Amino acid sequence: MRLTDEERAMADGAKSRAAARAMELLIRYGEALGAERLVEVTNVAGTWSVANPIVRDYAARGMDAVFSEFNLDSPEVVETPQAAVTACQLIGGLDARRPEALGVAAEVAALNEAGERYFAARGIAMHATCTPYQVGHVPLFGEHCAWMESSAVVYANAVLGARTNTEGRESTGAASVTRRIPYWGLHIPENRAATHLVRVEIPLSGMRDWGLFGYWLGGQIEDEICALDGIAQRPRPIDLKHFGAAAASSGGLEMYHIPGVTPEAPDLAAAFRGRRPRGTLRFGAAERRAAWQALNGRCTGEEVDFVMLGCPHNALEQVQLVARLLEGRRIRDGVALWVFTPRALGEVAERTGIADIIRAAGGELLSDTCPAISRIVPKGVRRAATDSAKQAHYLPAITGVETLFGSVEACVQAALTGRFAEAAP
Ligand code: F3S
Repeated sequence: MRLTDEERAMADGAKSRAAARAMELLIRYGEALGAERLVEVTNVAGTWSVANPIVRDYAARGMDAVFSEFNLDSPEVVETPQAAVTACQLIGGLDARRPEALGVAAEVAALNEAGERYFAARGIAMHATCTPYQVGHVPLFGEHCAWMESSAVVYANAVLGARTNTEGRESTGAASVTRRIPYWGLHIPENRAATHLVRVEIPLSGMRDWGLFGYWLGGQIEDEICALDGIAQRPRPIDLKHFGAAAASSGGLEMYHIPGVTPEAPDLAAAFRGRRPRGTLRFGAAERRAAWQALNGRCTGEEVDFVMLGCPHNALEQVQLVARLLEGRRIRDGVALWVFTPRALGEVAERTGIADIIRAAGGELLSDTCPAISRIVPKGVRRAATDSAKQAHYLPAITGVETLFGSVEACVQAALTGRFAEAAP
């Protein structure tokens, strides 16, 4: 690994013990990856959360012990320095504002708050969401980043044109201290070119179609880079959010191009950077149906007692839509409706009456976490409905709850009636 003078000095401890330990980790990590050098990053999205049970045990030794062990993989306890870059907290294990709604013990919530305050004082922006790009944590085009969270990584690369691989807690922690990450993978311009062409042969309208498309595509191409051709209707940011999240759960999609829409592909030729596609796929009605079947085909009934919306965390326009669909109505007894949004947007919803509408109907507006991360679902739940292909993919495996996938309208209707009634596309 070639190091600059500044990097060598950091590794030798000239900056701080934390930076020295961070450099040690980054060199080990980079060499394992075959990276020849590090690259300067200016934007980090990671986790400093202490809500997870394993991390909680460490917190008794102090927050520096947490940071050293979990953010630097360092057996030596070092003082947590100020973040050297713009850095934010992703999603965690509880809703800090309404822990009781998820049945989280008061002492766990208090520890979480202490951790948030400790790391916020050291420069970490406590956005507490898997969609930091929805609340102002937005890298510029071409900016080198170190981000965790697969749905956020693919959004950053494809939609924003920033450059990041899917990092972990330790590497983002080290990057926050040193402004460095190994230069490999999607940091390298040539690695961002499309390898496969996907011909889209049906109109994609709305989040449900984009979720199904992403879920199908992820299963086909794993982590190859696709150029999506034939998109007739310009997608919205929330469509691409759902598309990337779905493809990164059934596969490992980290990057894609839509000619004329995403910033690195003004046209199809630019997406391939002059190379020929290594393969061509087509997505039509049969493929969409197959994705729906893969998500819903194993469910043994249509009665639901839980509806989860907001994976990835909902934009305000999505929360507003849910409120409109619920206004003046009442969720069926015995059914729980949880709607997740970033805490900053939750605050807007609280202050403008949107949250009141959801609660008046019997639902909950929550932040900071989700059932897949917290492993918390309402007590006794047997079958859920969600508008997220990603959540439908993970919820059965993580919580053992059968999960149906469909449009947001069908999910809200299921909350009102206790029955999911949307037909296959
Ligand atoms: Fe976010 Fe949880 Fe979904 S982390 S993308 S809401 S599984």
